[in-house]
Amino acid sequence: MQKLLAFTDIHMKSEGQKIIGLDPFAQFERALAHGLRHHPEAERIILMGDLADTGAPEEYDRVQEILQDIETPVTLMAGNHDVRDTLVQKMPQAVCDAAGFLQTSHSYGTVRVLTLDTLFGPPAVSYAHFGAYCDQRFAWLTEQLSEAKQAGQWVALFSHHPPFRVGFKGMDQIRMRDDARMLKVLKGSGVSVHLICGHIHRTISGNWDGFGFSMLKSTCHQMPLAIDTTEMTLGTTEPAAYGVILLTDDGIIVHSEDFDLVQETLNTHTETPVA
Ligand SMILES: [Fe+2]
Ligand SMILES: [Fe+2]
Repeated sequence: MQKLLAFTDIHMKSEGQKIIGLDPFAQFERALAHGLRHHPEAERIILMGDLADTGAPEEYDRVQEILQDIETPVTLMAGNHDVRDTLVQKMPQAVCDAAGFLQTSHSYGTVRVLTLDTLFGPPAVSYAHFGAYCDQRFAWLTEQLSEAKQAGQWVALFSHHPPFRVGFKGMDQIRMRDDARMLKVLKGSGVSVHLICGHIHRTISGNWDGFGFSMLKSTCHQMPLAIDTTEMTLGTTEPAAYGVILLTDDGIIVHSEDFDLVQETLNTHTETPVA
């Protein structure tokens, strides 16, 4: 079994700036330290997009400041709050595919881990919070799925924007909009795929037309459970989390760890005998 640590929606801001009273720097620093303390053997750390809040260069500097002494390999993804060019320029861990998109593929035995770039553009459009996937990116994904099929691998598919609706009307508007084509490509591949997404800032799981999915909380602020809301900017200070992803011969398991709630010592609970 191998293990990945996934952190999404960091929303780093400039020094002194907070989001609904939360300091994104302190939140991410605490999340990462917790993850590495409890899972030092993790093969890789994946930052699943919205690394920055406004995309300003100094926000990436502050993410880098937290990452600088980490020895575990780091994979970076982009979200709608990121500026792809600035992210690539400022972050030495950024890896792009041949077409210049922030997409990576890593094999861990029976599981292939793919991280997608679902940003609209280029050219980037500042108001486009929804996600997109283009011909070049679909070509890359199709090739990766084909290789996974030949190797008999499962695929853990990381996508910042979910390519499906989750019931929040406003957030559903800014999902990855090339969803029908994505579904066709995944179904056509014949590969067992599990999707792991961010963007919504909430723990959600389900099944999208045959494909299982898990969504992870932000390391900072969360989305309240306000089903049907058309509002896209709701935020709550519910406990934050990161993901611990197990890659096994039997499949892919996604755990969510609320790092501020976890006790450092493990207690057993005792059964009270029935009188
Ligand atoms: Fe976000
Ligand atoms: Fe997002």
